Amino acid sequence: MEIVTVSGIINETNNIKTIKFKWAARPEPGQFVMVWIPEVDEVPMSLSYSGAEGGITVQDVGEATWALHGLKPGDKIGITGPLGNGFRLKGKEILAIGGGSGTAALALAVERAIAGGCNVRCALGARTSDELLFRKRFTDLGADMFIATDDGSDGHRGFVTQLAEKMLAMKNKKKPDLIIACGPEPMLKAIAEIAKNAGIECQCSLERYMKCGIGLCGSCQCGRYTVCGDGPVFTGEQLLGIDDFGKWKRDASGRKTGLS
Ligand SMILES: Cc1cc2nc3c(=O)[nH]c(=O)nc-3n(C[C@H](O)[C@H](O)[C@H](O)COP(=O)(O)OP(=O)(O)OC[C@H]3O[C@@H](n4cnc5c(N)ncnc54)[C@H](O)[C@@H]3O)c2cc1C
Ligand code: FES
Repeated sequence: MEIVTVSGIINETNNIKTIKFKWAARPEPGQFVMVWIPEVDEVPMSLSYSGAEGGITVQDVGEATWALHGLKPGDKIGITGPLGNGFRLKGKEILAIGGGSGTAALALAVERAIAGGCNVRCALGARTSDELLFRKRFTDLGADMFIATDDGSDGHRGFVTQLAEKMLAMKNKKKPDLIIACGPEPMLKAIAEIAKNAGIECQCSLERYMKCGIGLCGSCQCGRYTVCGDGPVFTGEQLLGIDDFGKWKRDASGRKTGLS
């Protein structure tokens, strides 16, 4: 583990903040780190920024993420990683689909794809327009933006999966060579099925409860895979071959519970 110093905080939405820290590592897009918050917990977070500073983008859902939201420049946290695999970018046309804070896992992939000359379309989904993550960041990078909100406050009213189906049916747009996605697991299951029916390769980043982050404890098990050791990025084909995918996860005690 490396102890790093918090260098900046960005308020992204009402309950999502980016925490930047001085860190020289060069992660692959889609990799994650285990973040140790002294006297609180250690939790997995996707890397959403890299370069002179690293960064994680955190939704406040409980004790550890609340503590991360309370950090100030100059505070110290521990970083283990980068861990796991990343997105394997290919082709010229990429569709990136993000649901809620899951969009954080796509950020470095969108940046790298655009820097490499790809045309990137982004479909972002959230409950309301205020909760959309990285809309300005991806627009400024040059991505073609599409929005879905549950309450219809912006873009398509409904799920981002419905929006993705509409986008794939657009006659004036090229068929994507690759779909990358991160968000709630039921959303990823729908995306994997949509991609399969459209004959498009799809890579999804999964979020499961993690303790060790290095393939030892089994808490992040999804079928025959561990999300930390074999993922977090899996192909749609891999995921659709797993019974647990979109149905079951393990809780803090290791017990299998239904996905809400
Ligand atoms: C590979 C990976 C990347 C992630 N990237 C991000 C990210 O970029 N931004 C972000 O906001 N969140 C991300 N998460 C989810 C984040 O780790 C959890 O929200 C966080 O651990 C919750 O901790 P808590 O103490 O605040 O909440 P808790 O009170 O412990 O739990 C709140 C919710 O978070 C889930 N959760 C708790 N601990 C974990 C854990 N160790 N691993 C996974 N889920 C957990 C619980 O099942 C519950 O649904 C990622 C998870 C994984 C596995
Ligand atoms: S978190 Fe321990 S095996 Fe994945």
